[in-house]
Amino acid sequence: MLSPTHIRISVLMLTFAVAGLTGCRGSISREPPIHLNPNMDTQDKYKSYRKSAFFKDGRTMRTPPVGTVARGKLRADNALWRGKATDGQFIDKIPFTLTMKDLERGRDRYNVFCTPCHDKAGYGKGTVALRSKGMMNPPSFHHPRFGEMALGQIFDTISNGSPSKLMPAYRHQITNPNDRWAVVAYVRALQRSQHADRGLIPVGERSAVDAEFKQRQKK
Ligand code: HEC
Repeated sequence: MLSPTHIRISVLMLTFAVAGLTGCRGSISREPPIHLNPNMDTQDKYKSYRKSAFFKDGRTMRTPPVGTVARGKLRADNALWRGKATDGQFIDKIPFTLTMKDLERGRDRYNVFCTPCHDKAGYGKGTVALRSKGMMNPPSFHHPRFGEMALGQIFDTISNGSPSKLMPAYRHQITNPNDRWAVVAYVRALQRSQHADRGLIPVGERSAVDAEFKQRQKK
């Protein structure tokens, strides 16, 4: 049961609450707002780009000591992050076990980021390439030299751009190295798709593929 004192206290608190919520709002004033309970709303602190009176150079933001690595940003795995073995040579394998899901992810990323120049089948006849009046001449992935290019080198091209820098780096768009490796795998799949040995087609599907092939030749 509520005693009269309790009720009185409750009414008082309610009055304060209503005053606190409505009293200082909505009315225009040149005075700073009354902040009944500042909590930790305003604190003495430096903001990143503001001047500092504390440090000699007057900057608030400090340069981390040389060799500082942010948590989780060590990127020590040379194969995964750079496509290279410890001796600095490009590796010629995907540094993790590839699944069908990875390949599908690779196709997805390839179709988004690479097709404008390299086209869906990898012949280097994407819209940008065709309209660049010869300024952008991506190579065809079906040129024999790509068969010899180590997978790590393709990974490096995606991450850092081509040696001439005519093709820009894509690590800022495809930030996850696993995704970049998935694209590498998909490029290999594209290469294989254009030089497929009929023997690789499952027996049950051969006649369907043959029919499709005939259809396309007619067009
Ligand atoms: C803006 C157009 C453009 C886009 C987008 C693009 N490329 Fe390229 N790519 C080029 C050009 C141009 C070259 C030839 C560069 C050169 O000769 O230096 C090239 C070259 C390459 C090479 C060969 C590098 C070498 O050492 O010869 C690979 C591999 C490659 N691209 C893969 C990719 C992949 C994978 C993607 C998608 C992540 C991609 N490219 C996106 C334009 C592009």
